[in-house]
Amino acid sequence: MDANVIDELITDGLTAPSWSNTRPYMVAVASGEVRDRISADLLRRWHAAAGLRSGSILEKIKFVFRPYAWPQSDYPMISAYPEELQPRSRKVGKELYGLLGVARGDKKARDEQWANNYKFFGAPVEVFVFIHKGLDVFAANDAGLFAQNLMLSAHARGLGTCAQGAVAIWSNAVRREFNVPKGYKLIYGIAIGHPTDAVVNGFNAERLPSAEITIGKK
Ligand SMILES: Cc1cc2nc3c(=O)[nH]c(=O)nc-3n(C[C@H](O)[C@H](O)[C@H](O)COP(=O)(O)O)c2cc1C
Repeated sequence: MDANVIDELITDGLTAPSWSNTRPYMVAVASGEVRDRISADLLRRWHAAAGLRSGSILEKIKFVFRPYAWPQSDYPMISAYPEELQPRSRKVGKELYGLLGVARGDKKARDEQWANNYKFFGAPVEVFVFIHKGLDVFAANDAGLFAQNLMLSAHARGLGTCAQGAVAIWSNAVRREFNVPKGYKLIYGIAIGHPTDAVVNGFNAERLPSAEITIGKK
């Protein structure tokens, strides 16, 4: 993908509003060999960690002796969603895996589907988004606005994107490739590529009715 296009997307991302105009985020753009190296590294870690989910004692022991598989995210990952949000997350998972023909109990197929995150879903470019820890949640908010504008710009150009929290589980796989300035933490990545006619690209996650998120109208 043309490097100029990525610069244009970043420029469009920067049209988003920001807390005191601080833009408390930075990006690292991975393409070509760097993208491939990070992908291979993340896949290796994921496959080593995925065994743990089987619950077998042997896999647990193996995990202990594979420190590269231990999650090393800059922010603690949410292990359990708040109870009232769980049904939404379960619903989208059920519908997506249903569309892909992955059975609920088929751990191997589910793990392989998740592993696609670490192939960046075949996209040639992954943009990693870092936020300044000094602005806390406000930095995350601004990065979200930036990311949304970037993704809309990509969409307007016929490109496809996917925000990926999954890649932040092992931030060291990204940090070893880039000189990330002090104070910046990896929050997620964004895969950018040309959408294919794969079944998954026809998936439409249901949107909530507005009433469900409206506290009141007085
Ligand atoms: C911050 C953020 C992180 C996300 N992380 C992932 C991810 O790691 N893997 C993935 O497949 N989708 C990820 N998503 C995509 C959401 O799952 C998706 O937006 C949601 O299910 C609605 O589907 P839609 O955007 O296709 O309509 C993420 C979205 C956001 C905003």
